[in-house]
Amino acid sequence: MHSKLSLRDLSVGNQRVLVRVDFNVPLSEQGQIVDDTRIVEALPTIRYLLEHDAKVILLAHLGRPKTGTSQALETNKKYSLAPVAKHLESLLGLPVQFSPECIGPVAKSAISSMKNGTILLLENVRFHQEEESNDPSFAAALGELGDLYVNDAFGAAHRAHASTAGITRHIRQSAMGFLMEKEMKYLQVELTTPEHPFLVILGGSKVSDKIGVIKALMTKADTFLIGGAMAYTFLKATGIETARSRVEVDKIDLAKELLEEARKQSIRFLLPIDCIATQTIEPGVPTKNVTLSPLSGISEGWEGVDIGLETRLLYAQEIAHAKTILWNGPVGIFEIPDFSGGTRALAEAIAGNRNALSIIGGGDSVTAVKQFGLANLMSFLSTGGGASLELIEGKELPGIAALTDLRAF
Ligand code: 3PG
Repeated sequence: MHSKLSLRDLSVGNQRVLVRVDFNVPLSEQGQIVDDTRIVEALPTIRYLLEHDAKVILLAHLGRPKTGTSQALETNKKYSLAPVAKHLESLLGLPVQFSPECIGPVAKSAISSMKNGTILLLENVRFHQEEESNDPSFAAALGELGDLYVNDAFGAAHRAHASTAGITRHIRQSAMGFLMEKEMKYLQVELTTPEHPFLVILGGSKVSDKIGVIKALMTKADTFLIGGAMAYTFLKATGIETARSRVEVDKIDLAKELLEEARKQSIRFLLPIDCIATQTIEPGVPTKNVTLSPLSGISEGWEGVDIGLETRLLYAQEIAHAKTILWNGPVGIFEIPDFSGGTRALAEAIAGNRNALSIIGGGDSVTAVKQFGLANLMSFLSTGGGASLELIEGKELPGIAALTDLRAF
C-alpha cells in the first residue's frame, strides 16, 4: 500500500513505544472536551500496543499555546493535556498516568517506573517552542524517552515539528499507526484509482484554500460541485452579480482559468444555480432564494449564505449517481440553522447513496455531518483538516516522510 513501516512490523513487547497522537480536540469555555473523535480514533493503536505488552508513552499537542513569557505560562494552563488523560482513562477503562513535563527528569522518572502493558500521557509538547521549530536537541530529548516510535497523528502529519518529524532521527524504528494507515488508505490509495463516476464536492470560505485540491483532482474527477463562500468568486468570474457576497477579488482570474481548464478537459464543474441570500448574518433574519444567472443575480446589500433549493436538487441528483464521493467544505454557513439547509441536503444525499464510497475530508464538513447525525452513514470521515487537504493535493506529509522506509527495514 505504501512504503513505510507499519506498527504491525514492530516487535513492541517490553519496549518503550513513543506514540504521537493528535489529541488536539475542541474544548468548551469550561475546558470540557466537545468532540472526542480524535481520541477515540487513536484507541486501536493504543489497545494493540497495550495488548502486546508495550510501555505506551503518548506524545500530543493541544491548541496553539504561546511560549516564553510568564503570562503565557499562566494562559497555557488551559492547554494542559491533563483532562485528556482523564478522558482517555474512561474510554480505555484503564489507569492513564500523566506526566506534567514532556521531557527531562520528570518525564524520565515517570517512564522508568512503567510496567509492560501500561500507558502514560506526556504534557503538551507545544509548551516548548522548540517543538514547532523542530529543534534537534528537543527532538533528541523526546527520542531518548523511547525505544520505538509510532506516528498516529494524521491531523498533525503536515507539520514538520520535533514530535512529528525530527524525533525519528533519534530513534531506531519509526512506524505508522493504524489511524495513519486508514487515513492514507482513503485519502490517497482510494483516490488514486477511484471508481467512476468520481464526484468532488468543494465548499468552505476560500478558493485559495482549494486551488491545490482542484488542480490535483482535475485529472481524476468526472464532476465538481461547488458551494460555500468560494462559489461566489467563481460566480463573479462568470459575470453573475454577487453583491455583498464574499468574493476573493484577487482570485477571479484564477477562477476563470480553472473554469476554462475544466471545460478543456471535459470535466463538469457545476456552480450553484440559486442561493439563499440575506442582509445580515444572524439567526432568524429574513432570507430569500435568489436565482443566479447573468440576468438575475444577488441584489445590492444582500449576500449569499447557502446554496439554494434548485441547486440542492441538482446536486443531489449528481450525488445519487456517483460511485466515489469526496466532500471537503460545507456549502453554506451551517453553524447558523437558517443557513444550514444546503449542507444538510447534501449530507443526506450522500448518506442515501449506499453504492458510493463516501469520503468526508476533514474539518468543518466532518463537524457538519456529525451535527446532522449522519456520520455512521459515510464510508470514511477524516480526522485531519489541513493534513487531509495537503494529502489530497499530492503533497508529501513530513510526519509520514520521516518514518522508516520499508526498504531500510
Ligand atoms: C489540527 O487540528 O488540524 C491539527 O491538530 C494541527 O494543529 P495545528 O493546525 O495547530 O498545527
